[in-house]
Amino acid sequence: MTQENQVSLEKITSLSKRRGFVYPTSEIYGGLTSSYDYGPLGAELLRNIRNLWWREMITCREDMIGIDSQILLHPETWVASGHVSAFNDPLVEDKVTHKRYRADHLIESWLEKNPQDEEVVVAGMGLTEIADFIEKHKVKTPDGNDVFPPKAFNIMFQTSIGVVEGEKMPVYLRGETAQGIFTNFSNILNSTRVQLPFGVGQIGKSFRNEITTGQFIFRTLEFEQAEIEYFFDPEKTDWHELFQDWQSQMWNFIHGTLGIREDKLRWRRHSDQERSFYSKETYDLEYEFPFGFKELWGIAYRTDYDLKQHMDHSGKDLRYRDPNDPSRVFIPHVIEPAVGVNRILMMALCDAYWEDIANNRIVMRFKPNLAPYKAAVFPLVKNKPEIVGKAREVFHMLAKKMGTNWDDRGNIGKRYFYQDEIGTPFGITIDYQTLEDDTVTVRDRDTMKQDDTVTVRDRDTMKQERVPIHDLADKLLGIIEE
Ligand code: GLY
Repeated sequence: MTQENQVSLEKITSLSKRRGFVYPTSEIYGGLTSSYDYGPLGAELLRNIRNLWWREMITCREDMIGIDSQILLHPETWVASGHVSAFNDPLVEDKVTHKRYRADHLIESWLEKNPQDEEVVVAGMGLTEIADFIEKHKVKTPDGNDVFPPKAFNIMFQTSIGVVEGEKMPVYLRGETAQGIFTNFSNILNSTRVQLPFGVGQIGKSFRNEITTGQFIFRTLEFEQAEIEYFFDPEKTDWHELFQDWQSQMWNFIHGTLGIREDKLRWRRHSDQERSFYSKETYDLEYEFPFGFKELWGIAYRTDYDLKQHMDHSGKDLRYRDPNDPSRVFIPHVIEPAVGVNRILMMALCDAYWEDIANNRIVMRFKPNLAPYKAAVFPLVKNKPEIVGKAREVFHMLAKKMGTNWDDRGNIGKRYFYQDEIGTPFGITIDYQTLEDDTVTVRDRDTMKQDDTVTVRDRDTMKQERVPIHDLADKLLGIIEE
């Protein structure tokens, strides 16, 4: 089955709200800039993404462990990491409306409308280059006005600990989860039996006071990161090989595990100008969103930059002693694959969306392991206690093993239509035939007869088959875990 129809951002935003994947935050008060809440389906989808990532990147690997550090770290952490001085966006202000924009985004929009013969690399342009470009090409804001010269705007969110004015301690909401891994490096060495090479992963919220461009949940002030710091001995491990190995892991997770279409994915190498201050090599795995190819998952070779910085600022020894050669003491190097969980969710929504014109339906064709609900259970009618009772038995049996949705509202066609739109791979109907197959009238679910059957409808093909209840969970799990 092909999936050729193009999805627009409007369609994804509208379906997300209509069906409960994503809502604008605080909508009753008019919303809050670049902030979204996740509804019942979005919450399930986020959990599935986190769990699949954790299982594949941490649980199933011998060389990985996970931690969960704080959002508020000692503020010196961010001085040491360089975020206080260098985590900046180029900002311009409209001379008339005083609205603020990311200068690089204004230039990118201008280039889309005014393609140049030679490629212009906007990412990583310095403030002077940005100012020159805006001046030369008379780049305007969306309201058609000139802008003031660009300024560097630090995107760390500042808050404070304490209640007494004058004694409050300024702190930052973390700008990345990575630093909680570096600051725990010696704790991890001292409390576990890890040896280089090994990696530490964590999933958690980060915050960036970004000037965003209204691309739904692509870039939000508060977001969730899934980051890995993979530590190695640069004399024993070739970083190029390790880097490529992690690139394969990333690709396999997105394409293999999550089932995202390969023709929507590509690698892009960061130019020297564009690379973050801490990185010696960076690639982005990009997905083709409705507004073009954009970063999904970055991988950076951070060298020994962070541990060295924290050694200098804390005065603590963060070196590693080689257990096979105790005279060798050194600062490990690091490769960092870092992805935004919300961005994976947005990609999953865009990739799954399919308008099945022939059958007049919208289908979210999530790979079953990603789908918010794996199965939906329908009693064919509401007024037959035998049918409803048996359907409940089936629901409780499945719900212990997989995300299952109960739906006894409206006609069966409407129920199918709804489940297609939320991407539930299997619709299970308990009907009159189930009762005919069932020759025992009073019994509990442990003695359910072998030949009780239900109808299983496949979301994508709409084909139906009868499956014995005692085979149902294993059959569905077999497909989900494929
Ligand atoms: N730690 C990399 C990032 O936050 O993008």
